[in-house]
Amino acid sequence: MYPKLKYHTTIPEKADRVFVTDAATSLPAGWFTPEELDWISGKFEKEETLISINRFAYQLHVARPSEKKTLAAGLEASRNLGYTLAKKLNQAKVQEVGLVCSNANSGFFMGLVEGLMLGSYQFLKYKSDADKLKNSIEKVWIEANDAVSEQEIQDLKQVVKAVGHARDLVNEPQSFLNATQFADEMKRLGKEAGFSVETLNKAKIEALKMGGLLAVNKGSVQPPTFNILEWKPENPVNEKPFVLVGKGLVYDTGGLSLKPTPGSMDSMKCDMAGGAAVVGTLYALAKNEVPVHVIGLVPSTDNRPGLDAYTPGDVITMSSGHTVEVLNTDAEGRLILGDALHYAKRYNPELVIDLATLTGAAVMAIGTNATVCMGTADETNMLNLKKAGDLVHERLAELPFWDDYADLIKSDIADMKNIGGRYAGAITAGKFLEKFTDYPWIHLDIAGPAFLESDGGYRGKGGTGVGVRLLYQFFKNIAG
Ligand code: BES
Ligand code: ZN
Ligand code: ZN
Repeated sequence: MYPKLKYHTTIPEKADRVFVTDAATSLPAGWFTPEELDWISGKFEKEETLISINRFAYQLHVARPSEKKTLAAGLEASRNLGYTLAKKLNQAKVQEVGLVCSNANSGFFMGLVEGLMLGSYQFLKYKSDADKLKNSIEKVWIEANDAVSEQEIQDLKQVVKAVGHARDLVNEPQSFLNATQFADEMKRLGKEAGFSVETLNKAKIEALKMGGLLAVNKGSVQPPTFNILEWKPENPVNEKPFVLVGKGLVYDTGGLSLKPTPGSMDSMKCDMAGGAAVVGTLYALAKNEVPVHVIGLVPSTDNRPGLDAYTPGDVITMSSGHTVEVLNTDAEGRLILGDALHYAKRYNPELVIDLATLTGAAVMAIGTNATVCMGTADETNMLNLKKAGDLVHERLAELPFWDDYADLIKSDIADMKNIGGRYAGAITAGKFLEKFTDYPWIHLDIAGPAFLESDGGYRGKGGTGVGVRLLYQFFKNIAG
């Protein structure tokens, strides 16, 4: 999935060496001639940020992250620089590379390492010639240095791995990843990282009367699962747990309200990206032993027009007791999430955050560059989440959430209907979810950034793992 990342006192001689610096004058003595240093300075003046000199047995590179208007912009530029470096090294078939922080801003240095690592992700499981296609870089050495600690590098390594696991899960087709397999993958990752996973089977889901999850599952030949993940450190900073809820729709055909082909169904294996983000976040928190108590809930099924499929016009009863008139079986995410959000009440949570590839309307509104957010949490929580988003460049754009938007989902015959008409689709979906909450809550519609159809730099093509770095940063800040 990634090259190995190692923190070490020395970098092997055969490895390419990258000096990350803010000026040619701060490069360490002995590596460059005065003429070369002049030449590098000249390049820096022309705004070049990555310069390479061939030493035959290896190459020397000088990378210069640049100050931007904001810290967040500088960090993002550094990640992009790391990604450019990864591409360059792979093109040159480099196997080992050592990175040296010589007088660069240490945050920018970390950003560069992050971009290099994330940008080296590959999903080759189904490629017969994976060996040939594999990136050349196998080892990334970080030279031990006062600017960055081993702990920081270890932390980053686990976060990058967590993003990779989320991306793997999203990239897996439903021919492999059905709801049961998804649950098994969660258990595997839970064991590896140290968080617990309990999976409720269909009988338990029936006993809990999860009418939303069961209705969506009716057209499927595979049973649904409801997964409860928990990271409970010994001395958490929070008394009441945070709960993350992720949409785990392993494939969305639209059901009887079938999605039109070609096109709109092709990437719908990504409809469990919210669930994958929850798994990835718990993985990173547990691996890095972040002292925050967090619970994850992931309802999972596929949505198909099978023989017994739920139909437009059906009225279903959710686990909360609410009745829903289903007028479009393609608005299924809110049905499985409604049951999960209701389930979250039992934890008396500090805050609940849900992540879901919920609406095409969210994509229409802000595209793939950011995540739509809304909710009922206080301004401080929302602001802290947005700040975390800015820092890791998983940005949030808030939509209005006024009460009257709920009028659009009033039903003639039931408590509500599952669609709201032509306008404000992302908001009416949120308003639907709100009915199942009685706690501070933030809804993240990740339909845009979860899965990219074209190359997205270090975010890659296909599953991006969006949400993992955002939530990890949010909880890291809470842990202090
Ligand atoms: N999974 C889709 C939303 C989606 C769209 C995710 C594009 C990723 C990319 C969701 O279940 C859906 O089909 N929503 C419908 C709702 C509508 C019928 C009210 C939509 O947005 O079209
Ligand atoms: Zn749908
Ligand atoms: Zn869906």
